[in-house]
Amino acid sequence: MPQNRLITRRRALQFGLGAAASAGLSAKAYGSYLSSQVQTRNSLEDSIANSSSSLKQKAAAKGLIYGSSGRYKDLMEDQKFAACFVQECGMLVPEWELKWSAGEQPLRPSPAVFDFTRGDRLARFAQTNQLLLRGHSLVWHLSLPDWFAQTVDSQNAEDFLTSHIRTVVGHYAGQMHSWDVVNEAIELADGQPGGLRNTPWLKLLGSNYINLAFRAAAAADPDALLVYNDYGLEYGHASDDAKRSAVLKLLEGLKTQGTPVHALGIQSHLSGDAGDFDANKLRHFLADVADLGLKVLITELDVTDQRLPSDIATRDRIVAEAYENYLLVVLDQPAVMAVITWGLSDRYTWLSEFTPRSDGASVRSLPLNANFDRKPAWYAVARAFEEASRH
Ligand code: G3I
Repeated sequence: MPQNRLITRRRALQFGLGAAASAGLSAKAYGSYLSSQVQTRNSLEDSIANSSSSLKQKAAAKGLIYGSSGRYKDLMEDQKFAACFVQECGMLVPEWELKWSAGEQPLRPSPAVFDFTRGDRLARFAQTNQLLLRGHSLVWHLSLPDWFAQTVDSQNAEDFLTSHIRTVVGHYAGQMHSWDVVNEAIELADGQPGGLRNTPWLKLLGSNYINLAFRAAAAADPDALLVYNDYGLEYGHASDDAKRSAVLKLLEGLKTQGTPVHALGIQSHLSGDAGDFDANKLRHFLADVADLGLKVLITELDVTDQRLPSDIATRDRIVAEAYENYLLVVLDQPAVMAVITWGLSDRYTWLSEFTPRSDGASVRSLPLNANFDRKPAWYAVARAFEEASRH
């Protein structure tokens, strides 16, 4: 297709919304319009992304960070993967090792024990390879150790919360770019005031647990960026509208009471068949968060292909389009400072276990395939960084 007719996805997203709105197109219809207007993924478009530099370098050229989650066992046992990780990523987020209890050799094997063995090994891997390190996650309703329920009660909960944060954040003080201090505190279906999730922490401490957590983290490491992290904020669905509103109100309330929250983490677990991607709603939400004086991190980006057709080229194209459409919108917001994928290679993704395909085919959700080759998704993320304005 001649270059002059090649409207990039970014330009189509920028002017298309107005055109779509004036034409009365729904977001879904606009999506198919967009696909029909913009050259389909082929070798020409893929080559537009200069493949000589890495995602880390492309992000850094625009003042952004690109990184990925990683697991101890994968990075320590698969040297080829570790090399790819260091080549492509500027940041490492331990996927399991800094949760209370995830994977083998958990951080909190018992009430009185902190086992930093695997966390320290990953911190050393990051330091040795000049990777930024971010911590995930200090307070969550999942991955709590088996001893938690019968040990922590309303009398000692505040001490367990603050001593966990003080000990873990203090242990890595000076090494951490940022911490997911509280993860997934909003769940409207729980029917709690403010849309708060009815977590063990809410039951034991009330809604002030969030403020307590951030204040404990700030006291333990004044230099770390402190992040509230959540999902379900990305699409135009009514449920995402409601959650965006609840998260914004939570952040406004925290800022009003002087809680040291510095950024919102938008997990960004996307779906190749989600359909209702509404760029306008996302833009407005990001602007509202930025207006609170907060930074934004895209913290767990991936695209599930669970319900996409079996054909690999089709799946890869749809997944790549989802990455590019999403990132072209979020990277237009200057407050966005980092894009972290939840995994780098299809060989190591939670989606294989948590959202497997019914046809039994391996999932193809991340920038690199299971042999660590770059896929259309890699080129899509690369193009989004190349087209992003400088931050
Ligand atoms: O394989 C080990 C097994 O050997 C061990 O005996 C057992 C003991 O708990 O753990 C097993 O590993 C589990 C792993 O899934 C494989 O099944 C981990 O415990 C378990 O934590 C892990 O699930 C993780 C999940 O969070 C819960 O921690 C996923 O890998 C991880 O991708 C997922 O990530 C979450 C983010 O933290 C928050 N946002 C949503 C995201 C996806 O759910």
